[in-house]
Amino acid sequence: MYYIGISAYYHESSVFLTNNDGINCFLKEESFSRIKGDKNFPRRCLEFLIKKFDLNDKNIRFISFYEKPFKSWWELFYYSIKNPIKNRNFLINHLKFFQKSAIFFLTELNKQINISKNKIIYSSHHLSHCLYGMTIVKNFSEYVYLTCDGVGEGETMSAFTIDKNYKIKKIWTNYYPNSLGLFYSTITDFLGFEVNEGEFKVMSLSSFGKPLYVNEFKKILNTDNSKLDIEYFEFHKNSNKSFSKKLSNKIDEPYLNIDIDSNFQKYADIACSAQIILEDTMENIIRNIIKISDKKKIVLTGGVALNCKMIHNLSKLDLFDELIVPPSPGDSGSAIGSTNFAFLNHKKNELLNLKTIFLGPKKELINEKIDKENYFVKISTIENFIEETVNKIIEGDVIASYYGPTEVGPRSLGNTSIFCNAKNSEVVNNLNTKFKKRKNFQPLAPMLLEEDFEKYFNINKSVKKNLEWMGCLCDAKKNLYDKYRSIIHIDGTSRTQIIKDKTSITYKILKELKKKGSEILVNTSFNISKDPVVFDIFDVFVNMKRMNIKFVVMDDGLYQTKDL
Ligand SMILES: [Fe+2]
Repeated sequence: MYYIGISAYYHESSVFLTNNDGINCFLKEESFSRIKGDKNFPRRCLEFLIKKFDLNDKNIRFISFYEKPFKSWWELFYYSIKNPIKNRNFLINHLKFFQKSAIFFLTELNKQINISKNKIIYSSHHLSHCLYGMTIVKNFSEYVYLTCDGVGEGETMSAFTIDKNYKIKKIWTNYYPNSLGLFYSTITDFLGFEVNEGEFKVMSLSSFGKPLYVNEFKKILNTDNSKLDIEYFEFHKNSNKSFSKKLSNKIDEPYLNIDIDSNFQKYADIACSAQIILEDTMENIIRNIIKISDKKKIVLTGGVALNCKMIHNLSKLDLFDELIVPPSPGDSGSAIGSTNFAFLNHKKNELLNLKTIFLGPKKELINEKIDKENYFVKISTIENFIEETVNKIIEGDVIASYYGPTEVGPRSLGNTSIFCNAKNSEVVNNLNTKFKKRKNFQPLAPMLLEEDFEKYFNINKSVKKNLEWMGCLCDAKKNLYDKYRSIIHIDGTSRTQIIKDKTSITYKILKELKKKGSEILVNTSFNISKDPVVFDIFDVFVNMKRMNIKFVVMDDGLYQTKDL
């Protein structure tokens, strides 16, 4: 029997299917529609699953939606209607949005599949985040589960515990509009970056700045109790703008276009100040949660948890024994949390045991009936493709990877990536700016075998687990500066991934690379900035042509693109 979870309408829509016995399939709607962050009902994902797994009322045990649709819509409406004149723009939009809101989830679902009504259930927004977190850890009752995002069902932060009898208890909540996530996304908007996309850029940029605006920001967000002074914001009034005139008066006119020569330093100073406020507030929240729960092991989810610089800096404060941020802590990962809700609802005393973080479909499932040799020519045998791939990397080629099951979460972890030799700074720089079209203040991330980690990096062991999916930064040691300067950020950190699974192709490539004199690969996601990561073989071919990448390593060999 299959359990299915769906997350949709606010951020990247996604669906997860599992039988909790080795069959897992996590999909994002953006993979099919090719619209980055597609938040529409995941019609195409469901179509794919129905076809591939022959889904029907008999083999589905539960379909669970990740939140309560009406509550989610109503809470924001209720807040804004308290001041209808001031908030009229938001209200008009919110009403217009009604027909596209999650309230129509059931109608949309019924168009896709006939399923008994009693098999459709609803989790709640923050609980789904936390239930995803519960699939990541083994001794689940030892942890407190903290979620911090923009807003979900009128809540902006929540904490839960679960006992050995699977009884889940909400122990703390913070309410809209007091949102740490919305504070950071407002600064993202103020700096002219796209909300829900540009937060990573603000984080990278913060390392170049000085904390010149910390005192100003402290008046806007109280770091002790996470309360916002709402006069500085407009996200509750306006669907297209997060900050008010009052914020511009306090800081400056918003800079809507970053320019390295004229306003870069100002951007960096604002980003640095916002980052410090974020970290100080999160420190206080964690202290409070540890006190309330009496637990020093934390699983942190919600979009704010993606700020890996914050995780790195918090780990230095000796606040907790362990802090885990799962690979997909945002709303799309909540499709997995919501599936866990369905599973627990059915079994009563069992949580999903997924055994792997690679929960997406295998590449052969995606590309059934497609002959890849129409687009690619195989240039290795199955016996020598690892060696041939590494030869190309050593020669200075940029190589795409497309093998194994697909990643969940925003970071490519080797199976759908682009690699180059981290020793070759010219290739690293080209990959970042020319191939990927990223800003050069965003460094690329390294990956290496776990056995080599300590030679080059330092990290507090309380957060080390997150390195398996690039969930935290670590500090560069002198060795790294000597040999691999190009992957170190200005603040001396790297967003490193360690590879442990000896059966994976990524592991074998790194092992072979080591024999040939380099221990670190650069690993970046297989997409061009603003596009979704490649999904099927056509995306692979088109994106390789667009980026001028010639070689791709797949499950059964090294391939070169054909000239069509
Ligand atoms: Fe959320």
